[in-house]
Amino acid sequence: MITGRISWLLFAFTLTLWVETGRSLELQPMGSPVADHGRNLVRDDDFSGLDLLSVESFFWGGSEKGRSALGNLTLHMPGEAESIIAMEKFQPLLESSQCTKNSMTLNFKNERSYQYGQRIWKWVNDADDRTFVLVAGHGHCGWNKHRLPFIVSNVLFSDTKNTVTVTGKASDWKTVAHTYELLVGGHPSLAKRDASPSFSLDFNHPLPLSSKSVSVGDVEFTYDCEDCGTKGEFDFEFQLKTELLIPKGVSMSLSPRGVSANFNPRLGLSANFTDKKSDERELGRIPIDGISIPGGVLDLGPEVVFSWGYELGPVVGTAGVSTGVSIGLQDAAKLAIDLTSPDVSASGWKPTVSQKPVTVDASISAGVQLNAKATVELALEALGQGFEVGVNLEPFAGAKFNVAASSAGACPEDPKKHRFGVKIAPSLGVNLNVEASTAGNEEEPILSQAIASVTMPLPSMCTGFGSGPGRPDPSKPKKKPSSESSHGVTKSSEHAPTLALSSSSSPSPSESTPPPTATSHTTTLSTTLSRSAPSSSPSVHRGTHDS
Ligand SMILES: *[C@@H]1O[C@H](CO)[C@@H](O)[C@H](O)[C@H]1NC(C)=O
Ligand SMILES: *[C@@H]1O[C@H](CO)[C@@H](O)[C@H](O)[C@H]1NC(C)=O
Repeated sequence: MITGRISWLLFAFTLTLWVETGRSLELQPMGSPVADHGRNLVRDDDFSGLDLLSVESFFWGGSEKGRSALGNLTLHMPGEAESIIAMEKFQPLLESSQCTKNSMTLNFKNERSYQYGQRIWKWVNDADDRTFVLVAGHGHCGWNKHRLPFIVSNVLFSDTKNTVTVTGKASDWKTVAHTYELLVGGHPSLAKRDASPSFSLDFNHPLPLSSKSVSVGDVEFTYDCEDCGTKGEFDFEFQLKTELLIPKGVSMSLSPRGVSANFNPRLGLSANFTDKKSDERELGRIPIDGISIPGGVLDLGPEVVFSWGYELGPVVGTAGVSTGVSIGLQDAAKLAIDLTSPDVSASGWKPTVSQKPVTVDASISAGVQLNAKATVELALEALGQGFEVGVNLEPFAGAKFNVAASSAGACPEDPKKHRFGVKIAPSLGVNLNVEASTAGNEEEPILSQAIASVTMPLPSMCTGFGSGPGRPDPSKPKKKPSSESSHGVTKSSEHAPTLALSSSSSPSPSESTPPPTATSHTTTLSTTLSRSAPSSSPSVHRGTHDS
C-alpha cells in the first residue's frame, strides 16, 4: 500500500528527535526464587553443593519503578564427559578462593568437605575428554563482576592445605551453553514471592507529531491531532530453548494492561489532483526501559515506534475534515509468538473501538484515509541469538467525500434543499499486527500476521452546501426529514449509501467551488487532518458543530 512518496509530505512530517535513551534494568544474580531454605542454611554435614550435576539453574532478578523481572537460565550437560556446578552452592564451605584466567584455587574450611569434593571432582582427571563447568558467583574471584563460567579440565589436590586447584579456562555463557532453557519475564510462576510479579513495557506515549501546515505548489495541507497517543503497558515474557546449539523453542508473549490508543486527526486540505498518493513514514522512536542479564545472557531493548500513513486522492476542492477513533484492549488478551516454527497464538485481542463523527466543513470530492501506527518493537539478543519482534496497533480513520449536485437538493434529507452537497462515507477501525524476524533480516520477516482487525460500521451522511437551495424538483415528492430541527441530520443505515446531513445555517464555502458536473465522484479517502477549516463555513455533522 505504500506507493509513491510525495516530497511535500516530507515537509509536513518532520521527525521529532528523541534524545531520550532507554534504560535497561540489569538483573542481578540471585538464588532460586523457589524457597529452598535447607540450602540456604548449609548444614554442617551437607556437602551436596559439591556434586557435579547434569543440570543446573541460575537465576537473576531485579525490580525498579514497580516493575520486576526474573531470569532463569537452566543449563543441561547430559553428555558422558560433561558436568556443571555452581560455586554459589558450595561457597559457604570455602575459606577463600582465588582465580586467574586459567585456574581457580579453592581453600576449604574443613577436611570433610575437602575430601567430599576430592572424591567427586577427581572424575574429571579420569579421562582426557572430561570437563565440567564451574560457575563462579559474582565476586567469587575477586575480580569478576558477573557470574563467570569456567571450563575445568583438570583438578589438583593439596591434602595438607585442604586446597583444590582447578585448571582450565575462563569462558562465557554463550560458549558453555549448548543445551539450555532461558526464561525471562515476571511470570508469577517465576516470582511467587514477589508482590508485583510482572515485567512490563511502558506504552504511555503521546503521538510524536504536533500540528503542521504545509503548502507546496497547489496543495495545501494542515493537520493536527489532539490528545493522540497511547496508554498502558504490556507484560512481557521470553523463552528460549536450545538443544545442542539448535534453537528448539523461541517464544515471546505479551499481554496488555490498560492499553488504549487515541487518534483524533483533523485536517485541512485544498488540492486538485486526480491520482492517488499514499505513503507511510516513521515519526519517532521512543526507547523504553528494557532488561538485561549481564554476560551476554540477555539484552532486551524495546522501543515504541510511531509511524503515520495516509492514502489520499483524488482531491478536488477545499475542506476541513475531522474525525477520531479510540481503541482499548482487554487485559485478558494474550499473545504468544513462536519464532521457531513461526506462529502466533492470540486470544482476546479484539479491541473495543469507539468513534467520533466524521465532520466536513466545505464541499470537497476526496478520498482520505489516515492511519497512525504505534508499534512495540522488541530487539532481543540472548546467548548470541538475535530476534526482532514488533506488535503494532494501527487505528485508521477516513472517509470518501463525493460532491453531489441536484436542483432538487443534493442531500435528499436536507430541509434547505441546498443544491450542492457532500456525501460522506466514513470508515474507522483498527488493525493489530505482529511481525517478527531474526536479527539482521528485518527485510524478510519470518512472521507477519494480523491478530485482530475491526472496522466500525458507520452510516454514511450527506451535508448540504451552496449559496442557496435548488429549485424544487416537481418530479419528486418532498419529504420532510423528522430531524430537521436539529441540523437536519439523520442517520441512515450502514447500507444506505447516503444519509442526509444538512446545515442549519447557510454555509458559504468561499473557495470551494463544487465541480459543475458533480454527480458523484467516488474517490478514495483523502486524508487531511485539519484544523484549518475555513472558519466561515459552518460545519454540519450529525448534530455536532466543529469549532
Ligand atoms: C527454571 O527453569 C527450569 C527449566 O525450564 C524449570 O524446570 C525450573 O522449574 C525453573 N525454576 C523456577 C524457579 O522457576
Ligand atoms: C482542477 O484541475 C482541472 C485540470 O487542471 C481543472 O479543469 C479544474 O477546473 C480544476 N478544478 C478546481 C475545482 O480547481
